[in-house]
Amino acid sequence: MKPRTPIAPFALLIFFSSSITYCFAGNVTYDSRSLIINGRRELIISAAIHYPRSVPGMWPGLVQQAKEGGVNTIESYVFWNGHELSPGKYYFGGRFNLVKFIKIIQQARMYMILRIGPFVAAEYNYGGIPVWLHYIPGTVFRNDTEPFKYHMQKFMTLIVDMMKREKLFASQGGPIILAQVENEYGYYESFYGEGGKRYALWAAKMAVAQNIGVPWIMCQQFDTPDPVINTCNSFYCDQFTPHSPSMPKIWTENWPGWFKTFGGRDPHRPSEDIAFSVARFFQKGGSVHNYYMYHGGTNFGRTAGGPFITTSYDYEAPIDEYGLPRNPKWGHLKELHGAIKLCEHALLNGERSNLSLGSSQEADVYADSSGACAAFLANMDDKNDKTVVFRNVSYHLPAWSVSILPDCKKVVFNTANVRAQSSTVEMVPENLQPSEASPDNGSKGLKWQVFKEIAGIWGEADFVKSGFVDHINTTKDTTDYLWYTTSIIVNENEEFLKNGSRPVLLIESKGHALHAFANQELQGSASGNGTHPPFKYKNPISLKAGKNEIALLSMTVGLQNAGPFYEWVGAGITSVKITGFNSGTLDLSTYSWTYKIGLQGEHLGIYNPGYRNNINWVSTMEPPKNQPLTWYKAVVKQPPGDEPIGLDMLKMGKGLAWLNGEEIGRYWPRKSRKSSPHDECVQECDYRGKFNPDKCITGCGEPSQRWYHIPRSWFKPSENILVIFEEKGGDPTKITFSIRKISGFPK
Ligand code: GAL
Repeated sequence: MKPRTPIAPFALLIFFSSSITYCFAGNVTYDSRSLIINGRRELIISAAIHYPRSVPGMWPGLVQQAKEGGVNTIESYVFWNGHELSPGKYYFGGRFNLVKFIKIIQQARMYMILRIGPFVAAEYNYGGIPVWLHYIPGTVFRNDTEPFKYHMQKFMTLIVDMMKREKLFASQGGPIILAQVENEYGYYESFYGEGGKRYALWAAKMAVAQNIGVPWIMCQQFDTPDPVINTCNSFYCDQFTPHSPSMPKIWTENWPGWFKTFGGRDPHRPSEDIAFSVARFFQKGGSVHNYYMYHGGTNFGRTAGGPFITTSYDYEAPIDEYGLPRNPKWGHLKELHGAIKLCEHALLNGERSNLSLGSSQEADVYADSSGACAAFLANMDDKNDKTVVFRNVSYHLPAWSVSILPDCKKVVFNTANVRAQSSTVEMVPENLQPSEASPDNGSKGLKWQVFKEIAGIWGEADFVKSGFVDHINTTKDTTDYLWYTTSIIVNENEEFLKNGSRPVLLIESKGHALHAFANQELQGSASGNGTHPPFKYKNPISLKAGKNEIALLSMTVGLQNAGPFYEWVGAGITSVKITGFNSGTLDLSTYSWTYKIGLQGEHLGIYNPGYRNNINWVSTMEPPKNQPLTWYKAVVKQPPGDEPIGLDMLKMGKGLAWLNGEEIGRYWPRKSRKSSPHDECVQECDYRGKFNPDKCITGCGEPSQRWYHIPRSWFKPSENILVIFEEKGGDPTKITFSIRKISGFPK
């Protein structure tokens, strides 16, 4: 007789564990130690993954990788401007399918922290607030003004109701255990005066009145009214005390890396230091910790904040922009999480005692009557290792490190001892290949289609005005581009026409970048930001006798995303002069200027695959190089394999890129330059001592962003339409796909 397979108990187990998934959370309250979920204190180790910064096809993998990394919670902001496209017109599809994202987290049996904001900062365009709201009269963002409060409350309520309808709050059996209103308002409250104080209080009360059945948090809001919990955002958070002794210590943003700007360098936060900060937080009684970011992802299209935030939002996070684990960071933090988990019971229930082990060394011990005991031994000395004696045993503590002893005896983890394997990353070039279905079928090379924009007014002018308008108030961010055009008459007696010298064009602008054309020829480019002083353009200009057309293409490169009254910061040209005339300097600032918003190609939507309008695309096997204002289109094959893809734009200038109508985003392989006196590149990074984004920098003189992520799911099996708009000139024949390969994947 065959032995009977014990199917029944196993099936029962599956039944129970899967049923736990869908009714897991329940009641969420808190005390001074931690969140209490379903009556149990729990440690929360959370990972920020912003849903619009990847694509739905990547979500399950990212969430799973976070879970494998020892994380039990996913955190995301809610991105208002991606959802409310115009007042009352909502979008929740594609990358903005918030409910789908949360359900993936739920299916992975993880918790969620939903930071609704809806102001988010986040290096996201306009801090996540829709641009249209700025133009509703009487609105001041994040202040006690009726239109702002009305629209904010309306959106907040819409999101809360959507979550309730889908039963996503823990109180309904869903994964959301905490919700956040506003974001770091405390930093700015004083700038907003009395209205600011009233607003913060109003926001907190409005949130609480939503009645979601789980606690609300506000971050960096020092006077949060009960029951809203204030939380910490920083590189370190061991000193943080909540504003009320009955509240747990919550760290909403531990920055395991930093963001980049076009023209900026590559900051690195060492794994040892991140682990040190996390261990110190739990050592000092923290119980909710979130990595901002755990996966940074991509600022697709024009969603990057700014100005000058790169399209990549990789953030040097534990999961890289492309969705691959970054090692040893990911692996080292996984080990750390494992060690902390072993201490969970003692940390949350034991009594804490602190003892000094030296001038910069200390132990925190958590012990309870059941015999549970966990200890954290820290060496805060940022130079010297130290041997300490704890409970009659000596322990070696590397400088700037914490050892974790889940049984108060044996060290299972030291933050400075990185055992995880390092991975190496390669971007393997893969030439653009013509697709079978492309018009060049039969010939060998890749056929391009090329369309050149006119420099200046390409259709009917939008308006004419004497002097300058603000760029953002004019485009309202429907495009990056605004043409400022005028003309001048040059008398043939001008000396410069005879002696071959050239007059000099001087432009001042509040931002963010510009290209200057005279008679359709590019004269030069410049970029910068600010009103005091504005940035300056200074280049010789080629003028001829008679009428000369001056066309200035002004560009925004991501709208400002934080700071008091940030929505009032303008952009665009403020002064134009030409020196070198017989009569001296010509001031064009009060001339009559003719304006055109956006590019013709944008207006026609020529990057959309469905685009059928007749414009003069020119087909060629040899696309022009170094030609400004040019659209390039090619129909290409999907690169082989299933590894992630980056578009190598090293030899291009600046512009926008699309694949199959999906917005890859802004590209600008601009070389990095010094941004502060401390901003020096290093060969090796010393993890010891307090981190700041200037501390460990590489990439001096390198392009800040060379590769641009194209999600695999955007590719079709055969025919893929790649469209590039190049502003100042590049070599499209050097564009390649690059396949991202990593080695050294952890066991
Ligand atoms: C924080 C802010 C985040 C993000 C971060 C820097 O102050 O809350 O949204 O901007 O800085 O990456």
